[in-house]
Amino acid sequence: MGFGRGKVILLGEHAVVHGYPAIAVGIERGARAEAKAAARDRLLVPAWDIDVAPDAQSDEPLARAFAAALCLYEDRPPLEVRLCVELPAGAGLGCSAAVGVAVLDAIDEALGIERSRLALAERALPWEQVFHGNPSGIDNSMSALGGVVIYRKGEALQKLRPRKPLQLVVGYSGESASTKEMVASVARQLEAEPARMRRDFEAVEILVRNARLAIEAGDTKALGQLLDLNHSILSGWMLCTTKLDAMCRAARQAGALGAKLTGGGGGGCMFALAADPKGAERIAEALGDGAFFAEVSAEVET
Ligand code: MEV
Repeated sequence: MGFGRGKVILLGEHAVVHGYPAIAVGIERGARAEAKAAARDRLLVPAWDIDVAPDAQSDEPLARAFAAALCLYEDRPPLEVRLCVELPAGAGLGCSAAVGVAVLDAIDEALGIERSRLALAERALPWEQVFHGNPSGIDNSMSALGGVVIYRKGEALQKLRPRKPLQLVVGYSGESASTKEMVASVARQLEAEPARMRRDFEAVEILVRNARLAIEAGDTKALGQLLDLNHSILSGWMLCTTKLDAMCRAARQAGALGAKLTGGGGGGCMFALAADPKGAERIAEALGDGAFFAEVSAEVET
C-alpha cells in the first residue's frame, strides 16, 4: 500500500515560496494507493467518482498529474492505481501532494522498486507542479517524510524535537480554495510592493525562528502567540476569510493558546494549538463538524 501523509504548516506558508523558512508537521492522515498491472493505465478515486487515463493535455488535473507520474517510469506494464483519500481537497492540508506521494509509492511497490522516502519526495514535485504551478516543495517533502521540521527551499530539512507533544486541532471552513491562485496573488503583491512584502517575509522569518525556540523549549504559550501573529500577517495578504477568522476566534475563546489559517488560505483549514488533550477536546467541540485532532508524526522518515 502506498502512503502519502497530509501536513499542517505551523508558520511560514507563502513566505516559503519566496525562499524563507517555514515550520510544518506531517500528520497521520493522508492518501493511500494500490497499484497493479492491468490492461490499460487508469487512476481511480471511487470516493470522488474519478476514473481517468493519463493525459498531459486534459482539463482534469489528476489526468495530467498521472501522466507526469507515469513519465518517470521507463519500462513498465500498464498500471491501474486505486486511491483512498482521507483529507479534504483544496483545504491547505497538502492533499494533492499526499495523493502524488501515495501514487508513486504504490507504483514503486507494484514494480518492486526500493526507494528512499527522500527520493520519493523529490519525484513527487512534478505531480505537485501540475496542481500548484510554483510550489515551494514543502508539501511533497512533508508528505513523504513527515516529522516536525523547518523547511527552506533548496535546503535539507532541519528536524525539530518538540519538548512537549503538539496538541493541534484542525478545523475545515468548508470553503475550498486554489493554492495556485493564492500563491499567484501573493506574487502579484510582491511585484507591486516589494519593500512591504520583503519586510513582512522577514517578520515571518523572525516568527519562525522564535517558534523553533518555543517548540524546543516546550513553551506552548509563546508558540501560540507566534501563531496568532503569523495569522495577522497572512490576513494582511488577503488570505483569510470571514469564516476562517471566526473559527480562529472561536478556538481562542475555547482556550486555544493560538490559532491561524494554514496552507494556501482563501478558505480551507485553520488550526489551533491546545494546552493539553482536554483543551483540544474543548476546541474541537467549539469548532464543530469536521474538526479533528491532528496526530503529528514526530519522526522524519528516511
Ligand atoms: C501550501 O500548502 C503552502 C504554500 O506556501 C505554497 C507552497 O509552499 O508551495 C502556500
